[in-house]
Amino acid sequence: MTKSGVIAAIVGLVGGVGVAALVLTGSLPMPSWLTSNSTGTALVGGPFELVDHTGAEVTERDFHGKYMLVYFGFAHCPDICPSALQVMSAALDQVGASADKIVPIFISVDPERDTPELMAAYVSAFHPRLRGLTGSTEAVASAAKAYRVFYRKVADPGSTSDYTIDHSSIIYLMGPDGRFVTHFTHGTSLDVVTQRLKSLP
Ligand code: NI
Repeated sequence: MTKSGVIAAIVGLVGGVGVAALVLTGSLPMPSWLTSNSTGTALVGGPFELVDHTGAEVTERDFHGKYMLVYFGFAHCPDICPSALQVMSAALDQVGASADKIVPIFISVDPERDTPELMAAYVSAFHPRLRGLTGSTEAVASAAKAYRVFYRKVADPGSTSDYTIDHSSIIYLMGPDGRFVTHFTHGTSLDVVTQRLKSLP
């Protein structure tokens, strides 16, 4: 994804000053939740109905009682997604046994190419417990909207495929009640992510 996309997505998450930054980029409409959010608390998360990498239907209710570490991206992503998923995976390994209460989830924003079969091969390359979620274009759009994730298909004629996808790169930590706990950005170090996960009650 483009740097401006990352920055817009990150400042958009915290609201407030993000409103001005989003407008300045000129390429994104200003979402109404930004202007209506008076507390400064990120309103992230919510229902989704997707299909996992085994082909099973899953919703957010399947993860209640567990922490979710959620990242949106796509399997053809050259480096941003792999590095985020590597951080998630390494952090879980470093947390050790108590990481069992945390479910790592990768949600595709490229349902056209990311079939459950492809997701199965992809997620297994990162972590044995990583769940790969995909679905219809509408289902993925709805999930991304709930998590305030921005993504946009972009023509990429020089690549082996026809297009790439600009997308937010944010790792969300959701609580056992499904509510937003915190997030990690692309610049968050592995140590910081690991310590935060180790500190979970
Ligand atoms: Ni990516």
